[in-house]
Amino acid sequence: LSPQDLAGETVLVTAGPTREELDPVRYLSNYSSGKMGYAIARAARRRGARVILVSGPTALAAPVGIELVPVTSARQMREAVLQRLEEATVVIKAAAVADYRPAMRAEQKIKKGLEGSLILPLEKNPDILAELGSRKGNRLLVGFAAETADLLENARKKLTEKNLDLIVANDVSRSDAGFDVDTNAVRLLYRDGSGEELPLLGKDEVADQLLDRIARLLKPSL
Ligand code: C5P
Repeated sequence: LSPQDLAGETVLVTAGPTREELDPVRYLSNYSSGKMGYAIARAARRRGARVILVSGPTALAAPVGIELVPVTSARQMREAVLQRLEEATVVIKAAAVADYRPAMRAEQKIKKGLEGSLILPLEKNPDILAELGSRKGNRLLVGFAAETADLLENARKKLTEKNLDLIVANDVSRSDAGFDVDTNAVRLLYRDGSGEELPLLGKDEVADQLLDRIARLLKPSL
């Protein structure tokens, strides 16, 4: 494939964790580093795409030549993604969006009580990708599935339920793949039921392999 095989495409990538605030000093989140999503954003840029990166809080440097939209919570990520959706021809949702948020954010720091336990009611966050799937248009939609059990079954289910073209299944119970490490071992599952396994690779290499597949889905003649 040509090095500029994504020229003319606008690729919207989400990356990193979301933070769901409990009070002014505390939040719920996860171990996502943003490395996979940033690698995809950089690779897509290198291959000629215009790239919009909607990112939760990470320690990573803003990639050069990319429009970075920083967000904190899942609801902010949803707003940012929906706002840019019209421009996007490809959406790659590598973010680890928190499934739940505290039902209430306390105005003041929550004080330690006398009881031995504290119950925090949680409320479901919007599923951004499912929402995109329901208004997909001609866009190519790519999701990630980070699982610790029943990887393929769960990934296949998400592919169908969220109306995706491709899902990247990620076994996060491995220590050399998934959250916060520089390597990843993924399986790619397609809409037509086919799938393929990539070997353990650096995240930059996984990004390029994924974009090879995406370029081919966009331009089957290549
Ligand atoms: O959380 P889940 O395993 O269902 O995530 C699968 C895909 O859905 C990922 O690509 C993730 O970015 C996306 N997702 C989302 N909004 C959520 C939860 C997940 O866009 N609230």
